[in-house]
Amino acid sequence: MNKTEDIQNVCLRRGIVFPTAEIYPTISGFFDYGPIGTLIKRNFIKYWREFFVQGENIVEIDGSTVLPEAVFQASGHVKGFVDPITQCKKCKGIQRADHLIEEKAGKFVEGKSASELTKIIKKEKIKCPNCKGELGSVRVFNLMLKTDVSPLGGQTAYLRPETSQNIFTSFQRVFRTSRLKLPCGIAQQGHSFRNEISPRHFLVRVREFNQMEIEWFFDPKDEECPDFDKIKDKKINFVTHQIQKKNGKMIKISGSNLIKKHIIPSKWMVYFLIKEFEFYKSLGIPEDALRFRHMLPEETPHYSKGNFDLEIKFDFGWKETVGNSFRTDHDLKNHMKHSKTDLTIRTDDGKKVLPYVIEPSFGLERTVAGILLYNFKGDKERGWAWFKFPAKIAPYISSVFPLVGKDGLPEKAKEIYNSLKKDFDIFYDESGSIGRRYARGDEIGIPFAITIDYQTLEDDTCTIRNRDSKKQIRINIDDLKDFFDKILSI
Ligand code: GAP
Repeated sequence: MNKTEDIQNVCLRRGIVFPTAEIYPTISGFFDYGPIGTLIKRNFIKYWREFFVQGENIVEIDGSTVLPEAVFQASGHVKGFVDPITQCKKCKGIQRADHLIEEKAGKFVEGKSASELTKIIKKEKIKCPNCKGELGSVRVFNLMLKTDVSPLGGQTAYLRPETSQNIFTSFQRVFRTSRLKLPCGIAQQGHSFRNEISPRHFLVRVREFNQMEIEWFFDPKDEECPDFDKIKDKKINFVTHQIQKKNGKMIKISGSNLIKKHIIPSKWMVYFLIKEFEFYKSLGIPEDALRFRHMLPEETPHYSKGNFDLEIKFDFGWKETVGNSFRTDHDLKNHMKHSKTDLTIRTDDGKKVLPYVIEPSFGLERTVAGILLYNFKGDKERGWAWFKFPAKIAPYISSVFPLVGKDGLPEKAKEIYNSLKKDFDIFYDESGSIGRRYARGDEIGIPFAITIDYQTLEDDTCTIRNRDSKKQIRINIDDLKDFFDKILSI
């Protein structure tokens, strides 16, 4: 069993994340978050907003997940958002043709046409991985989930495959009503849907997932990034086009060198990449498991003039987790043409501008998969497996335990729990031995444990156990709020 499967089992056992409608196991690629997973997810979104949105010239929207077909005709998804598939003539199983060729023949075939892939399958004698049957001709399959919103039929709509199209279609209204000025961002967190042919690797490739996207709009004639100086000396792990053709080994390179050496065409793009690197490290993912890869031209999405994607090293390989795309004015221009609506805006000096866009597109599920993987500690050291979640995203900041279930200790512990839960997510537990309760807290990654003992009744102090060091300190109960506020403000 690999580590991702291991973590998936732990998530099942602890009810963190589990398959949707698992009592009817008919469709794969959908997952529900249980009580602990929901708290982690919510805290993660909050932290992402603090890191990327709050205090910046960015506003947020919360758009519909169903959009009319016209949106995706304009964006190019109806025509271009396709994957190549092949069907086994014997067992009728469907496979993703490009992935199968990569796996079985070690050939990188991104960008090849359906007929070229059919020829490769024949030449390499690739058979159905399930029954060894002969594979049929390759054809393309659109990944969008289609629906019909008219009771009489004929009004096609799609579940959005990316959150960004709501932002482009409402761009002008949001820009005007929020009195934005370039450069500025519109962000959105919400669900996206893709009918993936072979969902796999737990949360990494699913059919419904959450994205957090920022569309950063700027005047193409004024690409200056005022905050560039603050980040230009910071280094990130990077894989250039040239490196990919040679040994594939990532280099460490500073923001200023990425611009000077013409590796990245925009200071805004570099600005976001450096922030992302800091953000992912703060989630407990080690630096050497993070890299940015300049996507090869044949892999670059149809709307992008360059992609610099953040990848996390999973046990099955590197996987894109944040798509950073230089979308230029592709989307606004196409929506202008198709909707016959002028989407230009006016700058303060009266200039008409169709902004350019840089898009950092974060995938929540892949990030959560990376967090679970790298914060998971096996049971060797403590006798129980535990998670070392950073405080910001841990499901609860602390638990509260009465040392024993008598002599007024549970009542005192409940009083402290009730006062803290107004400000924080706090876990209360009075069953079993204190050692077993510490272990239960560690198992779901709670960073601290407050214990109420006999001394508390005398002097209003309690102990706080640190999950990572297992050390305890004694603290006045009036100082608990400040203690946790300080931890969460770091
Ligand atoms: N708006 C641009 C866009 O959607 P993308 O690279 O296709 O770009 C962005 O997707 C991110 O969304 C990915 O980096 C990944 O984290 C997440 N994502 C995409 N497809 C996914 C899937 N099937 N399952 C889980 N996450 C997915």
